[in-house]
Amino acid sequence: MASNKKLLVLPGDGVGPEVMREVGRLVGWLQRRRGVSFDITEELVGGASIDAHGVPIRPQVVQAARDADAVLFGAVGGPQWDHVGFERRPELAILTLRRELGLFANLRPAVVLDPLVDASTLKADVVRGLDIMIVRETVGGIYFGEPRGVETLPDGSRRGVNTEVYTTHEIERVARVAFELARRRNNAVCSVEKSNVMESGLLWREVVTELQRREYPDVKLSHMLADNCAMQLVRNPRQFDVIVTGNLFGDLLSDLASMLTGSLGMLPSATLGAVDAFGRRPALYEPIHGSAPDIAGRGLANPLAQILSFAMLLRYSFELEGEALLIEEACRHVLASGLRTADIMSPGMARVGTSVMGEAVQRELEKLD
Ligand code: NAI
Ligand code: MG
Repeated sequence: MASNKKLLVLPGDGVGPEVMREVGRLVGWLQRRRGVSFDITEELVGGASIDAHGVPIRPQVVQAARDADAVLFGAVGGPQWDHVGFERRPELAILTLRRELGLFANLRPAVVLDPLVDASTLKADVVRGLDIMIVRETVGGIYFGEPRGVETLPDGSRRGVNTEVYTTHEIERVARVAFELARRRNNAVCSVEKSNVMESGLLWREVVTELQRREYPDVKLSHMLADNCAMQLVRNPRQFDVIVTGNLFGDLLSDLASMLTGSLGMLPSATLGAVDAFGRRPALYEPIHGSAPDIAGRGLANPLAQILSFAMLLRYSFELEGEALLIEEACRHVLASGLRTADIMSPGMARVGTSVMGEAVQRELEKLD
């Protein structure tokens, strides 16, 4: 691991900068109490970059992301940039980063923290202690496969085409991420496809099975058809540890899984690329929520998804497992003490804003440490 940890911080728009500010407190804590320091660069992206530079992300920011050991992203977008046109829209900032850094594995944890067990629309008994990780392939599959398009047939009717394409290489690299994760968790991977009706799914199953046999015999591997997986996630979600799946099924299943927790403002994510010749892996961490224009600028946003994204960054990019655990523990304590932002408010709890929540996390950390 490099001694000088290079971190690129991209707060973005709307609530992005508000929740990112709360991460700043944790950076201070890491330095003061744990002797961990970062070399931090901050840049504008999204609408903020459009306003300042005319484009959603500048080439030098993409380069800074390549040079960094990890990128911490807030959120981009908002109605004030609706007029800029499709080719310049703020959301291109994140799409460009994913493409340019080759970020092919999206990690979406769905964790139910005990104090929030009642936020789920499912019964508390079904989701209590839930802790699953969905690994979604993000650069291949039906969203990118060729041929694609809409064509007009000789009889004048039209035909829309999209094609699911996966190569062994694409399947192996994302499955490898899942197996490595499982080793750090509960050692079980469930691979999800539709091998009963899709050849690409059949290949997916073969490749994952072979990889497990060859390199990860210690990890328990199971297979599930995607439709059944959707049912099982609602029926008995705790049966899963790590789920690995393609782009389309992962899109649906990760949104489904995140709503098992009932709290958008609580959920972090990571997107990882391939390890290079120097052992470096490009990685971007961001909350799953967007820029929340409806509450932006009012100090109401829940900073915990951004804070938990930072904890993931410490864990997966810097091997700072102990520090990541402390931050997660601090968030749990703050919730247990009854503090709630509006998005997770429930009767009898104390309603607070963004900075009070962030301060409380910092205070808990100082106590735990
Ligand atoms: P959103 O996630 O921004 O908001 C959905 C709802 O959840 C809103 O009611 C919002 O107030 C609430 N919410 C979101 N984050 C919250 C937080 N931290 N604390 C409390 N409440 C929170 O999704 P929406 O409204 O569909 O999109 C708004 C903008 O964000 C759009 O321009 C969209 O393109 C962009 N977006 C950007 C993403 C990114 O940067 N990766 C991801 C998703 C959306
Ligand atoms: Mg989605």
